[in-house]
Amino acid sequence: MHDIIKQLEAKREQARLGGGQKRINAQHGKGKLTARERIELLLDEGSFEEWDMFVEHRCTDFGMANESVPGDGVVTGYGMINGRLTFVYSQDFTVFGGSLSEAHAEKICKVMDQAMKVGAPVIGLNDSGGARIQEGVASLGGYAEIFQRNVSASGVIPQISLIMGPSAGGAVYSPALTDFIFMVKDSSYMFVTGPEVVKTVTHEEVTAEELGGAVTHSTKSGVCDRAFDNDVEAILMLRRFFNYLPLSNKEKPPVRKAADTAERLDFSLDTLVPDNPNKPYDMLELILKTVDDGDFFEIQPDYAKNIIIGFARIEGQTVGIVANQPLVLAGCLDIKSSIKAARFVRFCDAFNIPVVTFVDVPGFMPGTSQEYGGIIKHGAKLLYAYAECTVPKITVITRKAYGGAYDVMASKHLRGDVNFAWPSAEIAVMGPKGAVEIIFREEKGDPAKLAEREAEYKAKFANPFVAGRRGYIDDVIMPHETRKRVARSLAMLKDKDLENPWRKHGNIPL
Ligand code: HXC
Repeated sequence: MHDIIKQLEAKREQARLGGGQKRINAQHGKGKLTARERIELLLDEGSFEEWDMFVEHRCTDFGMANESVPGDGVVTGYGMINGRLTFVYSQDFTVFGGSLSEAHAEKICKVMDQAMKVGAPVIGLNDSGGARIQEGVASLGGYAEIFQRNVSASGVIPQISLIMGPSAGGAVYSPALTDFIFMVKDSSYMFVTGPEVVKTVTHEEVTAEELGGAVTHSTKSGVCDRAFDNDVEAILMLRRFFNYLPLSNKEKPPVRKAADTAERLDFSLDTLVPDNPNKPYDMLELILKTVDDGDFFEIQPDYAKNIIIGFARIEGQTVGIVANQPLVLAGCLDIKSSIKAARFVRFCDAFNIPVVTFVDVPGFMPGTSQEYGGIIKHGAKLLYAYAECTVPKITVITRKAYGGAYDVMASKHLRGDVNFAWPSAEIAVMGPKGAVEIIFREEKGDPAKLAEREAEYKAKFANPFVAGRRGYIDDVIMPHETRKRVARSLAMLKDKDLENPWRKHGNIPL
């Protein structure tokens, strides 16, 4: 017995050392934590239960028979984040570059399967050279096993990927199938083909960082939901993010007590919207002044900035916020912002998170690049997402709600539960100027007449009452009472029960 315990301890020690001290030093030298240090930081102290520490690869080719490290390049198991269960895997770059072997994949699949059985999220800390080259197709098979589980788990348990090193080739598709991707600046990258292949095929010269670094994916491609400065910041923010999410689709989102009161009024909001309808203002201010304690976790803050999405709480309950941002492109909906918001609304819907929408939208973005890029199909994604969504939907129109974009942004017609408008709201087919230029085309040569028509149109339509008369707006509210009215609506909707008709799945325009 004594020998066995000694053997066990020796094996554990070997596993904890991963690829050895030299490689650990190299990892630290790059400013990165090791796989185990990351888990320690992510989970509540002492809560980590490790599985499969003794798993080894089965490869005998290319001299691999004598090269084995217990754990095979990935640390897996479960633990707690602020007392709530999560499963986790953390790839160990010090062991064969964190590359994915058949056995490594089996370890990841095991925690994913268990997470599905008990209904808890899976967090992947990715740091890997991709498919274990010595294993060939066995490794590719391992990836596909993970992909299948990513898809089966989609909408059932939250899946979060934190990219903390390389993620290249087909390996990028597991994170891509998860709900959120966070990246670490300067030390992580994701691409389907690396700079060398790009150079050969397209003759473009580009660095790994430019091609697939955290800044690229959080500003240009939209692949990444948040970029952080280093491993420690990324993991601490992930802990904070986790607190907003339910553990599975069978749960309501967690409630955390806030210092704020539900009935708090904010009179500074009464002057948020400028008198001049063409003057922008910062919609973020409204969000921060409406939610609990001004605490807002923004998703994709540097991508498609004409729409703001993110998580916050009202009376302690998680809500998803979607808001047009008049500061960028006048808050127009375009391809990128439609896709960004659509995916977010679908996440909220899948995980029982109410959606609060703040609207100031002059319409869809005109232009050939938008039309050629398929704005029809991509704009329809947001429309589809809102229409399909059965969680509580509360909408506040602060200023413009023009044209198709009025319909799209959680309007009453798309089963908006409570639709408010501020007195400054203008709900119409289009802005007054554009409207009179079309309907009074014959008066185009007479600016005075046209101005008169514009004033007439403005008086008639550029207000919330036309929609209010039809019941499309439940109430016109004062800006300062926005939080109170939204909070009351959410409380009223707490037990909302609405189901879509049975179907295998819908066919969202992709
Ligand atoms: C086996 C690997 C490996 C891999 C790295 N290593 N990648 N071993 N399979 N895929 C090993 C290295 O041999 C080295 O071992 C150690 O990990 C660290 O690697 P370095 O190259 O020294 O590190 P670094 O300079 O930081 O470069 C990291 C890297 C590079 C950019 C990731 O290692 C690299 O290009 N690796 C190959 C990447 C690749 O082509 N993967 C396949 C992609 S295709 P020692 O013993 O020296 O420490 C793919 C398909 C998936 O993944 C398909 C799914 C459908």
